[in-house]
Amino acid sequence: GDTVFCSTLTFAASANPIVYAGAEPVFIDSDEKSWNMCPIALGNAMEYAAQRNRLPKAVIVVHLLGLVADLDTIQSICDKYNVPLIEDAAESLGSTYKNQMTGTLGEMGIYSFNGNKIITTSGGGMLLSKKETTRKKAFKLATQAKEQAMFYLHKKIGYNYRLSNVLAGIGMGQM
Ligand SMILES: Cc1ncc(COP(=O)(O)O)c(C=O)c1O
Repeated sequence: GDTVFCSTLTFAASANPIVYAGAEPVFIDSDEKSWNMCPIALGNAMEYAAQRNRLPKAVIVVHLLGLVADLDTIQSICDKYNVPLIEDAAESLGSTYKNQMTGTLGEMGIYSFNGNKIITTSGGGMLLSKKETTRKKAFKLATQAKEQAMFYLHKKIGYNYRLSNVLAGIGMGQM
């Protein structure tokens, strides 16, 4: 029954993980200036959801084609309703918003190093978070959720979402 608000003009990969996690994506329309999530539409959707006690678990904003979304306004709406903001910066590595790199402003940011990106490792990506607990949790889930033990101990379902060390080396070289 959880929802996550996301951009409508985007590549499907920014909405798919919402469904992987068993939640429902709610697509927020674009504004004419940035082509990205419209703060007015977001504000309306948030108000509507708040009235029904159905606030989303997160907002995922995309910076499409390197164009930066109206982050200050979007962030202030998220703050008002206490909903975390995640930036999909897969297409905006190198773009800045008020001198700050996109992907570093929200609670979490994601980059893609897929073959069609500016910096590529042929596949894989990167998750950023200022919160150490979030980083540790993501790292654990991405590496089969293996507990620190001398034997194979797992308390959660994990994933193999790691970037291999060989590919990370190629990425570091390009950076
Ligand atoms: C906006 C956006 N989000 C997410 C992705 C997914 O990245 P990846 O293919 O590395 O999972 C892409 C491109 O591939 C993208 O353009």
